[in-house]
Amino acid sequence: MTPLLSLRRTGARIGAKDLLLKDEGLNPTGSFKARGLSCAVSMCVELGVKVMAIPSAGNAASALSAYAAAAGIEAHIYMPADVPQANFIECKAYGSHVTLVDGLISDCGRIVGERCRADGWFDISTLKEPYRIEGKKTMGYEVAEQLGWELPDAILYPAGGGVGMIGMWKAFGEMEALGWIGSKRPKMIAVQAEGCHPIVRAFNEGEEASRFWEGASTVAAGLRVPKPLGDRLTLKAVRESGGTAIAVPDRELMDAGIKLASEEGIFAAPEGAACVAAAERLVRDGFLKADDKIVIYNTGSGLKYLEAYSVRFPRVSAGQTDKLGGLITPR
Ligand SMILES: Cc1ncc(COP(=O)(O)O)c(C=O)c1O
Repeated sequence: MTPLLSLRRTGARIGAKDLLLKDEGLNPTGSFKARGLSCAVSMCVELGVKVMAIPSAGNAASALSAYAAAAGIEAHIYMPADVPQANFIECKAYGSHVTLVDGLISDCGRIVGERCRADGWFDISTLKEPYRIEGKKTMGYEVAEQLGWELPDAILYPAGGGVGMIGMWKAFGEMEALGWIGSKRPKMIAVQAEGCHPIVRAFNEGEEASRFWEGASTVAAGLRVPKPLGDRLTLKAVRESGGTAIAVPDRELMDAGIKLASEEGIFAAPEGAACVAAAERLVRDGFLKADDKIVIYNTGSGLKYLEAYSVRFPRVSAGQTDKLGGLITPR
């Protein structure tokens, strides 16, 4: 159960009276990926899986590595070579076999597929097994419980592969069938980065599926997913809910992250910060109303993105690179 925090100062500044943030950065391994992977790894133990592999933008790899270590299962990680340093170090420390790939998560996914077919490993990629989504849907159950079984007017969620959005949408349907909530649904708002927004493009073009985004680039590593596997279901949830999809430039999402930290004492991942920036835009253009109950999902901790934030707070003069986490020496 992660906290649902009221963003009083940020809300007052952007003109949203009831702005809330669900802080997923407080999960074990510092991101919401712990939800899906704790569930999936637990089921792997139950079903006797001994070796598994994952392509990851970073946080899923950290979560898999931790739970695989706890379960005594062998984990093979394939991540882009420029993955945040925190993710790389976590995976190594947890004892996973790490391969850094000169490419994007889509390239990693192709290699994992080949290795799993050749070596009989279990492929625990997004939406290739049923349990990660079951873990992630708990984000939807929790928000309902925390709001007294009435869903908010809008949910802003940083959509990469789309699993969190799809999981929450599933949870809402289940809760209605159980008689726990009524038929009211929040507007589901998919937030992406300007440098990689296949879902937003498909939404704007009225398409059912996304097209591969060429040259994907953003500091929000979890949003650097050029062809989301869950694109159809994500777009369906966004449309059925009367929501929207919106892209935010890196500079704006980093500004929003720093502002959020100083206003509220919450150090968000760039993906979560993108949702704060998106909320500000949507209130300004009238899509969201001042009285709406708005929930932002901060999917990870800012502490996992020190390279991205250090660009804003350099400790060394221009021309030298910052020694992230290194020894405290003059050089
Ligand atoms: C911090 C963070 N937020 C959001 C996402 C996107 O997740 P989803 O697959 O649920 O769309 C990721 C994926 O790596 C992530 O690490």
